[in-house]
Amino acid sequence: MNTDNRENFGSRFAVIMAMAGSAIGLGNIWRFPYIVGEMGGGAFVLIYVLATLLISAPLFMTEAIIGRRSKLSAANAMYALSKRKKFWKGVGLVLVASPLIILSYYSVVGGWAVDFLIKSLNFTFSSETPDHVSTLFGGLISSTWRPIIAHLFFMGTTAVVVSMGVKSGIEKFNKFTVPVLFGMIIFIMIYSLFLPGSDAGVKYLLKFDASSLTPKTLAYALGQSFYSLSLGMGTIITYGSYIRKQENLLTSGITVAVSDLMFAILAAFAIMPAVFAAGLEPGAGPGLIFQTIPYIFSTMSTELPVISDIIAIVFFLAIFVAALTSSVSLMEVGAAYIVENTGMSRKKATTILFVILGTIGTLCSLSFGPLADFQIAGKGLFDLMDWFSSNVVLILASLLATVFAGWFMRRESFTDEFSSGGKYSLNKKIGPVLHIIIKYAAPLAIFAIFITNFIL
Ligand code: TRP
Repeated sequence: MNTDNRENFGSRFAVIMAMAGSAIGLGNIWRFPYIVGEMGGGAFVLIYVLATLLISAPLFMTEAIIGRRSKLSAANAMYALSKRKKFWKGVGLVLVASPLIILSYYSVVGGWAVDFLIKSLNFTFSSETPDHVSTLFGGLISSTWRPIIAHLFFMGTTAVVVSMGVKSGIEKFNKFTVPVLFGMIIFIMIYSLFLPGSDAGVKYLLKFDASSLTPKTLAYALGQSFYSLSLGMGTIITYGSYIRKQENLLTSGITVAVSDLMFAILAAFAIMPAVFAAGLEPGAGPGLIFQTIPYIFSTMSTELPVISDIIAIVFFLAIFVAALTSSVSLMEVGAAYIVENTGMSRKKATTILFVILGTIGTLCSLSFGPLADFQIAGKGLFDLMDWFSSNVVLILASLLATVFAGWFMRRESFTDEFSSGGKYSLNKKIGPVLHIIIKYAAPLAIFAIFITNFIL
């Protein structure tokens, strides 16, 4: 394992943009806005903020600590730091496999965004009737070639960014796209809040239903904040290994957690007011962004012709870019692993990943059409991979990462890495507290989510 000529992120800004790019994604745009309303509005947001700051942000910093300490990709980091205990090698392999599983189906969704971006550029939503527009999504996913080509385009774009390297690919890409993403979502939010009838959506997000403060809400809040911060997938460990020693892991970690939180809240205020202004019910998942929202664009187009087209283009561009910055971080885990272990060139490694993941994703895409009858435990391939990676692997891998950092890594190494070798005095003070959270509170909290999800 060669770490001598490992690339680094060039600046503090680059570190934050790359990590925020990984964190901000579909989880912020469709999962969060929907869950907030379902789970009790403001009360849920409050718990979500606390869960993010008290458990998820510490875990995020811990993954970065493991990565930077080892200067290795997720597959090898814990193995190397644990003096090469076999068990951690196995865990490392899970941490490489799981992001690749996510990427295979994430790229299919990315492809849908590409297709809808093309539709918006063709003014499809304004030229067709709303009823027709809401059938477009069903038509797309059940057809054979269109979604596959879009998925391969998305995966190919991801592979190109990753193949260009950490500095000239990933860093450059995120430094440009993440600020633009914030601009786009704020633009849509302002527009959405000015629509007549939007206040019902604002109320939906701001209601404070204290009776919803239950263990189940807490488990959901934690699960969602793990997903949103890209934890348990080896990405933060891998990106962490590119952070230079002089960067402050405390302030960078908090900045990323707060940016991710802000983006989720902005997205909620961009989407829900428009849904309510159109007199619709918020639905979950892909249906919300690919059916409900296009329907709204179509109904708006009679009164607000040009602007509704512009908003549609910006909206699908934002989804495409948000998904891309996340998928880049997913592929990087695999690319770093291959390069590290075989010495193969980055280009070759990403080409191999493109072929393998492109194929698995193609099968996922077909699970909505020709392969719909192929089911395991009542779920198609796509749903199965989504469920398995975000409910099982993510939680289990996060648990193992905390147990590793709390119980198997030397405490001095942990706190030393956190404070950049004693460089930052606040980090020196907080380090032991962080260590206690990671050693006791975080594993208990994760275990509780696991129980709530599977048993209750
Ligand atoms: N955080 C991403 C989002 O909000 C999704 C995600 C989960 C992810 N795990 C990941 C992205 C790992 C990159 C790496 O959409």
